[in-house]
Amino acid sequence: MQIESVGVKIRFKYAETLRKTLLSHDVIDTSLDFIRDENHLIIPITLSKNDARQLLLSSSSIEGFELNIFNFPQKDVQPKNLYEAASIYIPENLHEFIPKAYDVIGEIAVVEIAEEVMDYKKKIGEALYSLFPSLKTVYRKASAVSGQLRTRGLDLIAGEKKCETIHLEHGVTIFVDACETYFSPRLSYEHKRVADLVKEDEIIIDLFTGVGPFPLHIAQNHNATTYAIDINQKAIKCLERSLVLNKLKGHINPLHGDCRELASSLPKADRIIMNLPSYSQDYIDVVCQILKPGGIIHFYQFVATEDGKDHVVSILKQELAKFGWEIKEIIDFHKVRESAPREIHACLEAIIALQST
Ligand SMILES: C[S@@+](CC[C@H](N)C(=O)[O-])C[C@H]1O[C@@H](n2cnc3c(N)ncnc32)[C@H](O)[C@@H]1O
Repeated sequence: MQIESVGVKIRFKYAETLRKTLLSHDVIDTSLDFIRDENHLIIPITLSKNDARQLLLSSSSIEGFELNIFNFPQKDVQPKNLYEAASIYIPENLHEFIPKAYDVIGEIAVVEIAEEVMDYKKKIGEALYSLFPSLKTVYRKASAVSGQLRTRGLDLIAGEKKCETIHLEHGVTIFVDACETYFSPRLSYEHKRVADLVKEDEIIIDLFTGVGPFPLHIAQNHNATTYAIDINQKAIKCLERSLVLNKLKGHINPLHGDCRELASSLPKADRIIMNLPSYSQDYIDVVCQILKPGGIIHFYQFVATEDGKDHVVSILKQELAKFGWEIKEIIDFHKVRESAPREIHACLEAIIALQST
């Protein structure tokens, strides 16, 4: 479809300078396509001819422009990705820095923005907003995940300041506070994968449950009991909110506190989940206290890509030996996701028990 609109016609030689000037004043009509003839580019704008003339005459570097009404083709395709949505706002030499990845957690998006395009952070936020009409909020990652609670700083770049949201993950409804708790939609497959391994009537202990995605997936399909522990009270409050949002087959006991301090009050488990990859090796004493001999652990670690399985197995063996336990059988080792350049977030699944004499 063609739309009549004010446009600026200019020889190609001056077109990039004109585009940058119009961009910096936020007056390009992004719903319309540019027009080209043999020698000229014609850019659709949102200003009247008079306002545009005043703006362009004040810029000495723009020469020989013509202001007129032109018929512009309307953009009929929605941008397919963040690159397409954001590139219209960002100079071409910076396009390589447009973020390729982002997380959508319910109505909240979280994106990492490189220093090179930080001046365009609001535009990137708006571009994400335009891609997902259901979004209410876009945050920029303002720091890495850190500290015992595994949370990060967030900087609002579009929409309203909102932290609480409801996220859907393979049919499970998860209440998340994106500002004060850890939650990564990149683990959705892993949450479901572990849940699918659970057998009826198992007792599971999730030592570092966060907002409880593993227990919620487990309880959705299995008549099992999960003790879901987290030291972050807000995370446990989120899990409690999720309990009433889902129709669960199994049972979940949300427990706020340090898993080591709670260990003596827990029953013996058939399976223990340890998704605290930087520190899980420091909690093997807790596992040996509460896992039934012959039980299964899901032991998560960050590991250099080249070290892989052997390295994770040797850490686990070494820690178990301190408490007289050993690996009886390795069930599986796999990459959960890339966590950094040449580093993976990995899961080792093993049957462990007291050392045989
Ligand atoms: C990686 S995050 C949560 C992972 C969660 N299982 C998931 O898949 O989304 C690890 C969690 O461990 C909690 N945590 C850290 N140390 C803890 C401890 N000693 N006892 C209980 N929870 C702890 C943090 O508060 C954080 O929510």
